[in-house]
Amino acid sequence: MSLTITWYGHATFGIDVDGAKIIVDPFLKPNNPVAPVTAQELLADFILVTHGHGDHVADLVTLAKQTGAQVICNFEIATWLGRHGVDKAHGMNTGGSYSFPFGRVKLTIAHHSSVLPDGTYAGNPYGFLIHCNDGHDLYIAGDTALTYDMKLIGDFGGVDVAILPIGDNYTMGPDEAVIAAQWVKAKHVIPCHYNTFPVIEVDAQAFAKKLMREAGIDCTVLAVGESISF
Ligand code: NI
Ligand code: MN
Repeated sequence: MSLTITWYGHATFGIDVDGAKIIVDPFLKPNNPVAPVTAQELLADFILVTHGHGDHVADLVTLAKQTGAQVICNFEIATWLGRHGVDKAHGMNTGGSYSFPFGRVKLTIAHHSSVLPDGTYAGNPYGFLIHCNDGHDLYIAGDTALTYDMKLIGDFGGVDVAILPIGDNYTMGPDEAVIAAQWVKAKHVIPCHYNTFPVIEVDAQAFAKKLMREAGIDCTVLAVGESISF
């Protein structure tokens, strides 16, 4: 029974739930200036996509075709994938949940924008709340501002691990992420969406210290390519 999370830089993660391999928001080498691996070096059974921006989907079609992974995303991105030869996409919409072989996935509210790199309308941006089969509850916020909707996640029992953006400018910054972690009642936080580009440079260690000091919540600042198991 295990959950292992690997950071590939920016908002790209590998998540292993009892052997099921999930890639989140594939943005890999050389598209992602900090990613340590190319799409060709990764395995995936499932790919989760939060929204259509290039820094989340640059390697999506390549990875989906190469691995045959099922893509889990919103309806609009699933439709777009179908037009690009990826026919296994599972489209969902706001607040909906569905059970996959690794666990139950809900699309959560994210306050952001979304359009695909070719200009196609990508629907709303989302986060994912995952009740993993190994028993862990995982929240992937996606690109989002701090939003009161996060309190609902706390009200429904909170999460073991929250992956939160902290880079500011395009998403919430470190100060808001400290509040978000408390609202979702996270036991453990992993920051992302920072230090990829100069405009989102942030001191993640300072964020981790503040999160412990002000909220008593553990934070792991992963190095790119590093993993943590729960
Ligand atoms: Ni975005
Ligand atoms: Mn982004």
